[in-house]
Amino acid sequence: MSRKVGRFSPVLTLALITYACGGGEPAPQGEMAPSAAPPTQTSAAAPMGALPEGVTAEMVTQGQQIFTGAGLCYTCHGPDGTGTPLAPNLTDVTWINVDGSYEAIVGVVTSGVAQPEEHPAPMPPLGGAQLTPDQVRAVAAYVYSRAHGG
Ligand code: HEC
Repeated sequence: MSRKVGRFSPVLTLALITYACGGGEPAPQGEMAPSAAPPTQTSAAAPMGALPEGVTAEMVTQGQQIFTGAGLCYTCHGPDGTGTPLAPNLTDVTWINVDGSYEAIVGVVTSGVAQPEEHPAPMPPLGGAQLTPDQVRAVAAYVYSRAHGG
């Protein structure tokens, strides 16, 4: 007669003991018993706040490089996107020409702003830079993530 109920896996038992007694020592986290509920499960699932469909964290990272580099966006919007006398803050919740949605940001970056509402000179299409459609979507992803708390 073999009774499996009630038998502990030696590995699990060891992990439990190590976990319970191992103050100060680096416990083997990988063997942690499932009953020890991890306190922060949300951070891994949504590292940058919710991104729109089709937008990846990679695009955001790439977009930041475009924003502060080849895209020339920083020359008017500032290196951190918080605005200059030439162009508005892109990191706040206030929008002038768009509703703040990802597609609207892609659109305004593509077409520029020929007649600015509150600033002295137009934004040229693509910010005056030479960007591929993929680069536009990346830089728009960066702007979106900044404005939405990323
Ligand atoms: C020559 C200066 C200049 C450059 C370069 C520039 N912009 Fe702009 N941007 C503007 C101006 C001016 C506006 C319109 C502000 C207004 O209507 O008062 C604007 C508006 C925007 C808006 C809409 C903001 C809103 O509140 O409606 C976004 C998004 C934007 N720019 C992103 C970018 C990105 C991304 C780049 C780089 C690819 C870029 N801009 C490059 C001047 C610039």
